[in-house]
Amino acid sequence: MKILVTGGAGFIGANFIQHVIRERADWSVVNLDVLTYAGNLENLKPVEDDPRYRFVRGDVADRDWVEATGEGFDAIVHFAAESHVDRSILDASDFVNTNVLGTQNLLDWARAGGASRFVQVSTDEVYGSLGAEGKFTEDTPLAPNSPYSASKTAADLFCRAAFHTHGQDVVITRCSNNYGAYQFPEKLIPLMIANALEGESLPVYGDGMNVRDWIHVEDHCAGVLAVLERGESGEVYNLGGNSERANLDLVRGLLDILGKPHELIRFVKDRPGHDRRYAIDASKAEATLGWTPRTTFEDGLRATVDWYVANREWWERVRSGAYREYYERQYGSR
Ligand code: NAD
Ligand code: DAU
Repeated sequence: MKILVTGGAGFIGANFIQHVIRERADWSVVNLDVLTYAGNLENLKPVEDDPRYRFVRGDVADRDWVEATGEGFDAIVHFAAESHVDRSILDASDFVNTNVLGTQNLLDWARAGGASRFVQVSTDEVYGSLGAEGKFTEDTPLAPNSPYSASKTAADLFCRAAFHTHGQDVVITRCSNNYGAYQFPEKLIPLMIANALEGESLPVYGDGMNVRDWIHVEDHCAGVLAVLERGESGEVYNLGGNSERANLDLVRGLLDILGKPHELIRFVKDRPGHDRRYAIDASKAEATLGWTPRTTFEDGLRATVDWYVANREWWERVRSGAYREYYERQYGSR
């Protein structure tokens, strides 16, 4: 099997490539990534010398680059995206370009002979926000609330159209919040760990009672692989880790693991349009694909803290430069 992974230098894409190289001895992987602020080839050090792995630097929103990856892939696993909600609120243009146009480009190229199967790696945020009860199923109406989730929803709908209109072999995954190694420290868990380790304050939005449903990135990668291998064409599969936590409880738990005082927490202005609660019903994937999340949130969180403690140089490097400017803009004036 020969697959094209887009966005493979980012958090989940890099974990996925490592997972595939480890778990599928006869597969080869081409990684197409333009290397935005979130793309980091250091994330692929464990596989960079493997003859089954190749990197191509290119933009999914640019057809020439997509074509330059080669022809005849068995599948495209499409992770490449602008992925951070707060950045999409500051400026949505890159989100439209990469997430919408980039996805349509890849679909067109796949149809023209580039690849047989197309796996769209999407998000539970396309379903909008939940009240205190209930979970997102694959039949929950699409109701995105942020520019980021609107762009992912648009991309999902182009995937749906490619299946219905052109008969393309397309499957969509919708996963909840990931955490684990190599996550860029703009997202809640690595940001809080890095700030706590540096003795900086921990910015919690609003009242801290927004709920996210966490899944360890390894479980997400196993789920995407199961969908790639066994998912039915035209179907959507929710993936989640059954680990709902209020942000404030999570951040307090992180401080306890690190032995740091809760006084580091600083309540800041809420995210505009902040979704209150996400919770995923992944029973369809569990029943039909033989996949199930294996990592408990407690074990996964401790392992993740250990990883960030052991890999301080990794996150210190990515927290320099352009990231600092963004951080000042996002949190500086509050
Ligand atoms: P990330 O921001 O860490 O990585 C994104 C990667 O895409 C980077 O390597 C970046 O360089 C690359 N990229 C961006 N624009 C590109 C372009 N125009 N052409 C080529 N490459 C480009 O993101 P992530 O957290 O790893 O998320 C990966 C995918 O999974 C995204 O599609 C996201 O919507 C989805 N997802 C993420 C989560 C989560 O919790 N992080 C949950 C569900 C779904
Ligand atoms: O649900 C899946 C989605 O999860 C993915 O599609 C996105 O790509 C990914 O970024 C993530 O989106 P969230 O907005 O849920 O993740 P984030 O880590 O930005 O925020 C998690 C929660 O923590 C959210 O309620 C906002 C809050 N938060 C976040 C940051 C960065 C804070 O309170 N303080 C912060 O500084």
